[in-house]
Parts: sequence; structure tokens; C-alpha cells
Amino acid sequence: MKRLRIPDSRLEVSEICLGTVGLGATIDLPSSFTMLDRYLDFGGNFLDSANVYSDWIPGEKSRSEKTIGRWLKARSNRDQVVLATKGAHPRLETMQLSRLAPEDIVHDLDQSLVSLQTDWIDLYWLHRDEPARPVQEILETLNLQVRAGKIRYFGASNWTLERFLLAQDYARDHGIQGFVADQVLWNVAVIDPENIADKTTTTKNTALEQYHHRTGIAAIPYSAQANGLFQRMLEGSLEQMNPDLRRPYPLMPNLERFQKIQQIMRESNLSLSQVVLGYLLSQPFPTIPIIGPRTISQLEDSLSAAGVWLSGDQLEVLR
Ligand SMILES: NC(=O)c1ccc[n+]([C@@H]2O[C@H](COP(=O)([O-])OP(=O)(O)OC[C@H]3O[C@@H](n4cnc5c(N)ncnc54)[C@H](OP(=O)(O)O)[C@@H]3O)[C@@H](O)[C@H]2O)c1
Repeated sequence: MKRLRIPDSRLEVSEICLGTVGLGATIDLPSSFTMLDRYLDFGGNFLDSANVYSDWIPGEKSRSEKTIGRWLKARSNRDQVVLATKGAHPRLETMQLSRLAPEDIVHDLDQSLVSLQTDWIDLYWLHRDEPARPVQEILETLNLQVRAGKIRYFGASNWTLERFLLAQDYARDHGIQGFVADQVLWNVAVIDPENIADKTTTTKNTALEQYHHRTGIAAIPYSAQANGLFQRMLEGSLEQMNPDLRRPYPLMPNLERFQKIQQIMRESNLSLSQVVLGYLLSQPFPTIPIIGPRTISQLEDSLSAAGVWLSGDQLEVLR
């Protein structure tokens, strides 16, 4: 798999990032290890986790990070992986209470280091924003963590463009590190943000896309395969899709989008995953989709999109 450097950083990452929300939870331990091994076999090196992953399932906390930690230790391969994780998510039982105070950020980061059994995180994401909190306090806290050697770079997930710009301006004006990437919900489907239950999430919009185009800052989209929406259309199993996952994707515009995807599949002899992920891989600015396979065959199918490049006309058709 091709590697690219995240601009404004020294991070050399594979063009497809492996999302790990299910590791150690919906994906059992042996299958999790196999998935991580297979991803590396395909040339992948970029893992996305979060302190909060699995915490909606009763029992042990942070199972994704802990599984990755066990795997890194078992394989002794920490230096072969670009490790990204997230913190500062609200507690799940009080989603209305943001957690971006310095002590929240440091608390979550320290917990992640223990769970991941590592001394440093390559790319640390703020999982959410707290719009009322001054960006200067947040950035100064993150820069302290960089200076302490706990993180190398950091990014913002689910931040609006307005807040992202405030932070970047502060970093530039004060000669400190700013965000090297953003992580928002973005895929080839038509998304209705009004239908997303969690109002602390952010989706890609035209202004954000133009910002990436203008600055070349990296986009690292999540739910990059629209939670399997188009796979379900292809298989005729849309009715079985989890209604909560399906809700953000209005039916009629996405059936039309599916027709266009199929047209590109036929004209370029590509699979569905290759078109769905190729759409993101072919953007005119660095875009590294996070895949979320549940099985090894989904992993292999998704990774077959590596190297796919859609034409400008095809991207236009899928707009
Ligand atoms: N920053 C954030 O707030 C945030 C939020 C969400 C996710 N994430 C990150 O993004 C990653 C992926 O997100 P996600 O799981 O929400 O979305 P996703 O990758 O769009 O969807 C995953 C689902 O798509 C289906 N799928 C994936 N590959 C497939 C294939 N090759 N063929 C057929 N179906 C396939 C599977 O559905 P079935 O299970 O129905 O087969 C799978 O469970 C997560 O692991 C996490 O790291 C970040």
C-alpha cells in the first residue's frame, strides 16, 4: 500500500487507515489479532482507536486500545505502527457535558498510554470539541503533552471549521504546534446531518472541503464506507441495516447515488468498495479514509481499494 506523509508532520502513513472500534468487543481477541496482522501484511501501518471505544458495552472499558496494546506487545512492533487514538470525549451517560478541560485531556491521554502499553501516541485526536472553551487553553495543553513526549502530533475530530480555524490561527500567531488533520464524518453517500442523533458530531461540508483544498491539510474521514449502506443496497439487504446507522442517509438521493456508483463500477471495472473508498482516495488534497471492517474478508475487500484513482469527471458524477 502506498504511503504518504501527513503535511506539517513527519508521520508517514499508509493511504488507508484501519479503524478499530470493534476490536476486543464485537470482534473477539483472536480475530482482532488476525485483523491487525492482515492489515500489516497488506502494507498498512495507521491505526485509529479511542479511549472510549467499547464503553457502551457493559464490562471492561477501552477494549479497543487494550487489544491494540496487547497486540503491540505480543508482536514487538510498536515502531512499525503509526498509532492514533482519541480522548476528551464526553462521558457516555452525560453526552451534554464536554470534557476538554486540561485535566480531562491529560487524564484521558494518560489512560490511553496505559491501555496501549506505549510511551507515546503518534497522532492524538480530540474526539469532540467544547465550543465555549478558549482554543488557547486547549492548544497550550496539547503542546505541553508534545513537549512531555507523550504525543507527537494532534488533530481535531468533530470540530466545526470555524473552531478549527480559530485554533490554527492561535497556533500560528504563537509559534506553537496546531492541528495536522481533521477527522469528520465523510463518505460518498448523501448525508443529512439533521438525522444524526449525536449532535456532538460534525460532517464534511463545502466550506470544509474548500479549506482542505486551499491549505492541503489532511482529511482523515470516518464512517468512510457509510456504515455499509451501499454494500447492503448491492446485496439487497438494506432492510436489515441497523436503523440508527441508516438514519443519516436519506433513501431516494442515495438510491440515485448508488446508480452512479454502479455506473462507475461498470465503466472502470471496479468493485463497490473500490469506488466507495476510491472517491475519498482521489480527492485533490491528502485524504486518508478510515475503514471499519467487521470481518477479515471485509478488511481484504476494503484494502483492495488501495491505489484506486477516480477521474475528475467521476468525482463530479458522485458529488
Ligand atoms: N471520530 C469519530 O467520532 C468516529 C466515529 C465513528 C467511527 N470512527 C472511526 O472510523 C472507523 C470506521 O467507522 P464506522 O465503523 O462508523 O463506519 P464504516 O467503516 O463506514 O462502516 C463499517 C461497516 O461497514 C460494513 N463494511 C465495511 N467494510 C465492508 C466491506 N468491505 N464489505 C461489506 N461491508 C463492509 C460493515 O457493516 P456490517 O457490520 O453491517 O457488515 C462494517 O461494520 C471506526 O472503527 C473508528 O475508528 C470515528
